[in-house]
Amino acid sequence: MELSVNHQALAYLAAAVLFILGLKGLTHPATARRGNLYAMLGMVIAIAATLLGAQVQSYGFIIAGIAIGAVIGAVVAVRIQMTAMPQLVAALHSFVGMAAVLVGIGTFLERRASGGLDALLMSEISAGVVIGAITFTGSVIAFGKLQGLIGGAPVRFAGQHLLNALIALATVALAVHFALTGSLLSLVLMTLLALLLGLTLIIPIGGADMPVIISMLNSYSGWAAAATGFTLHNNLLIIVGALVGCSGAILSFIMCRAMNRSILNVVFGGFGSSGSGGGESAGAQAAERGVKSAAVEDAVYWMEDAARVIVVPGYGMAVAQAQHALKELMQQLEERGVEVRFAIHPVAGRMPGHMNVLLAEADIPYDHVQEMDEINPDFPSTDVVLVVGANDVVNPAAREDAASPIYGMPILEAGRARQVYFLKRSMRPGYSGVDNLLFYQDNTSLIFGDAKDTIEAINAALKGGGH
Ligand code: TAP
Repeated sequence: MELSVNHQALAYLAAAVLFILGLKGLTHPATARRGNLYAMLGMVIAIAATLLGAQVQSYGFIIAGIAIGAVIGAVVAVRIQMTAMPQLVAALHSFVGMAAVLVGIGTFLERRASGGLDALLMSEISAGVVIGAITFTGSVIAFGKLQGLIGGAPVRFAGQHLLNALIALATVALAVHFALTGSLLSLVLMTLLALLLGLTLIIPIGGADMPVIISMLNSYSGWAAAATGFTLHNNLLIIVGALVGCSGAILSFIMCRAMNRSILNVVFGGFGSSGSGGGESAGAQAAERGVKSAAVEDAVYWMEDAARVIVVPGYGMAVAQAQHALKELMQQLEERGVEVRFAIHPVAGRMPGHMNVLLAEADIPYDHVQEMDEINPDFPSTDVVLVVGANDVVNPAAREDAASPIYGMPILEAGRARQVYFLKRSMRPGYSGVDNLLFYQDNTSLIFGDAKDTIEAINAALKGGGH
């Protein structure tokens, strides 16, 4: 069976609508599963319509490629830890970038042999290859930094911006030359320079900014795909590329706003190296610095008689996988008539929606989960705030210390509650590397240990009748 051009266009239209419905579904946790289903259905239609199109001449390589890719993808999907998701996304973007480069060069070589080259096509090829190459090396570096293969600290050297500007200018000049002349040498040099640019653009950026950079690279990968869509005359690729390009750009913007940073500051500035720690025990370090450490029983004492408890989850909840224990804690407290809610900061964790996904996995009802702006006014009337592996997102330095690198970032106002308990393992700071001023407040205590172990101990104490 071969699909006519018109039928293929109709199938592509249906797929595009399903992708848009998919994106819409992903805007809320309650509709996210349905959104994923729409997008998956759209992808099945898109792949089937492409495979049945007149352009496909033999299926051997395609089936072999899909089979190998599907096996690798399935193994990775099953094995991947939630905390390693950002680097997986980076790795996947690098594939999109490399695919755009290969399709561009392949199309050029094929058309050069068959005599179908013109300036428009070569401009499209230039755009796809340049954006694809930047996306490829940029994503490889981002992967390396997040995976700990390359140091996460910002790398600085004199004349860095000038060097990047020169490489970018030379790349554009070669792209124009290639589009006008069809010179293979210009295409090769342009590709190499764009690969270098991806490296020199991303290597200076610190690990703390990597999630924003990944979101930007996501956007680039979309534009690379859209440019490839023009090269291949594939409307669906153009639409999908534009959807990915725009949503990645919007997401980068939202993340920057939540951290009160400009996108230029992220791209060209440095932020956060990992903090110090080690040596003495956490308790001793805390005492030395005038910070109160508490036992599980203290928190139980305050919580069982509380009217209102707010849990602030952060990256440490993901590391400890404490969400299921938290669900049990919620149920136990609710049985005692305590109101329990979860406060979500837009950049808690290490990727957008990180906390929502984990809480949903533990079947914590959506109406118990509230965004920062919604829940902030309720902290002053809250008896106990349990900060579970969060740190930067409740740090008042963002409000009070103009010299702090996180100054201006909106925070969850946890410190305004009657009692604040931090569940963490040490005195180490959070991702931004900034000491947390809330540790030193009178109503704050730290319970040291793995968050899951501590919550399980709280659950056991509550079951046993408390203190
Ligand atoms: P962080 O400030 O990074 O703090 C995480 C805390 O978890 C640390 O204090 C750590 O302390 C603790 N922790 C780690 N493992 C733990 C375990 N097993 N048990 C208990 N505690 C554990 O996290 P946050 O408050 O979620 O803030 C997120 C940070 O990431 C912000 O700086 C944000 O700007 C940045 N960021 C996030 C995103 C997105 S999209 N989410 C994007 C860009 C940047 P110990 O080591 O002492 O245990």
